[in-house]
Amino acid sequence: MNKEIIAVAGTGTMGGGIAQMFAENGFKTRVWDVNPTFTAKGVENIRKRLSKSVEKGKIAATDAETVMSRIIPTDSLGAFADADLVIEAIIENENAKFKLYRQLEAVIRSTAIIGTNTSSLSVTGLSRQLGSPERFLGLHFFNPPTKLKLVEVITTSALKPEVLPTVNALLTRCGKQPVTVKDAPGFIVNRLLLPFINEAAKLVDAGVACPADIDTAMRLGTLHPAGPLQVADLIGLDICRDILEKLANALADPHYRPAKSIVDLVDAGKLGRKSGQGFYNYSS
Ligand SMILES: NC(=O)c1ccc[n+]([C@@H]2O[C@H](COP(=O)([O-])OP(=O)(O)OC[C@H]3O[C@@H](n4cnc5c(N)ncnc54)[C@H](O)[C@@H]3O)[C@@H](O)[C@H]2O)c1
Repeated sequence: MNKEIIAVAGTGTMGGGIAQMFAENGFKTRVWDVNPTFTAKGVENIRKRLSKSVEKGKIAATDAETVMSRIIPTDSLGAFADADLVIEAIIENENAKFKLYRQLEAVIRSTAIIGTNTSSLSVTGLSRQLGSPERFLGLHFFNPPTKLKLVEVITTSALKPEVLPTVNALLTRCGKQPVTVKDAPGFIVNRLLLPFINEAAKLVDAGVACPADIDTAMRLGTLHPAGPLQVADLIGLDICRDILEKLANALADPHYRPAKSIVDLVDAGKLGRKSGQGFYNYSS
């Protein structure tokens, strides 16, 4: 068992996965959500995922139990007082995050590092709400955090120099590959991926090619494992639209505005795989 203690605020899709990932790598991991029922649900989801892995023979039942024993749910943020690293993975809402940071700073140690998993808010903007912005950075995990190796580590000009190597070492010990990125809209992945998806959707709008041919062209012509419109359907077209709107606003560049086909599909409730229809039909 590692000596550092991890705390995760928010036990939804990302927070639950991040907590599971740290526990799987031998860290005592405290978890909290805004409501004890949500915390319990998050922990239950971790248990279910581990049970599936046991059923598939990927891990031993005793190992799954060991992982679960490292996950310690709490109803009170006061329990985060002994954490070395606190990861915030609550809803993408500035005011909710600001409120949580105020509560956290009142209870955590002065040496504790706080990382936000935000995918679209300015890390610098969030850091300005903290009394100690020098220990705050972005830790952008990818879904599912138990499987995807990449973590974008987002720095601000206020960050204390020793925080970055400490965090990178922790992530590396968990088998993650951190990449360092200065705070900027979309960081690296979304800044490159979303315009790529958007251009593909604009080709559909202009009648240049159908989605299947666009995806085939990019898969076979550039060795992408999936085409841009398949990826868009996987991410969720509502999420793609929101990120594109945020990029357009943050970069003051209308070129990032979502293509008509993305907007029309979202307005029609066709959000991609999760709704059964997007650029492709998944009902069969
Ligand atoms: N889903 C993704 O693919 C993904 C990828 C990378 C980063 N992110 C980021 O991770 C964060 C969490 O996203 P998610 O997909 O896990 O969302 P989610 O909706 O699955 O989970 C959000 C959690 O926040 C909790 N919550 C709601 N209101 C709250 C409040 N007022 N105070 C504290 N907690 C509250 C909810 O109970 C829930 O457990 C967001 O910042 C998001 O941008 C998401």
